[in-house]
Amino acid sequence: MLGAFVRVILWLVAGLVVLMGAVMLVFLVPHSLYWRSREETLAGADPTRRALVVYQPGLGPRTREAALSLAQGLSDAGYTVILNRPGRHLPTDLSAYRLVAFGSPVYAGRTSPALRRYLRSVTGYGQAAIILFTSGGDPDNDNTGQLAALVPPERILHRVKFLATQDNRAAARSLGRDLGSRD
Ligand SMILES: Cc1cc2nc3c(=O)[nH]c(=O)nc-3n(C[C@H](O)[C@H](O)[C@H](O)COP(=O)(O)O)c2cc1C
Repeated sequence: MLGAFVRVILWLVAGLVVLMGAVMLVFLVPHSLYWRSREETLAGADPTRRALVVYQPGLGPRTREAALSLAQGLSDAGYTVILNRPGRHLPTDLSAYRLVAFGSPVYAGRTSPALRRYLRSVTGYGQAAIILFTSGGDPDNDNTGQLAALVPPERILHRVKFLATQDNRAAARSLGRDLGSRD
């Protein structure tokens, strides 16, 4: 009787472990891979002020929403903005941009390995100011540190986490407007 009970508990635990592993795989594999290029251009009033926004999409909408809204805010402020996902299609010398932004969702405490791989491939930033953003559910850790460790610290202009529990589009757009109006 006791043996059967223990066997049921063990099967339940094993099932739970397999289920959790499958859930993690579903989220972590796309988190780690380069996606195809999906370049979008947002025209700004001043074509000489160029910005690049690179974001790793999550399985939900939040990271892309934040990236697009930030790009719209920069465009409102006059920047011509290129928005795309990390990958070999992107330049590695970013000195042509006055502003660059990198964003990632957070899964299991980690920002996207694909975005970090791209950051490690960047050879130069010139005079570009850098914005780092994450999207995630934990309000106590902005998780931008893993990205900040891969860019020149003196070039970082702003670090922010957009919380998954709320619609951040207006806030991200307003942030883009503010940061884009600084020079
Ligand atoms: C399996 C899993 C693990 C997660 N781990 C974290 C975490 O460690 N820290 C955090 O802030 N958010 C975590 N989240 C929340 C996601 O980061 C959040 O939903 C994020 O906004 C997803 O972005 P997306 O809508 O672009 O997919 C996790 C979500 C899932 C599904």
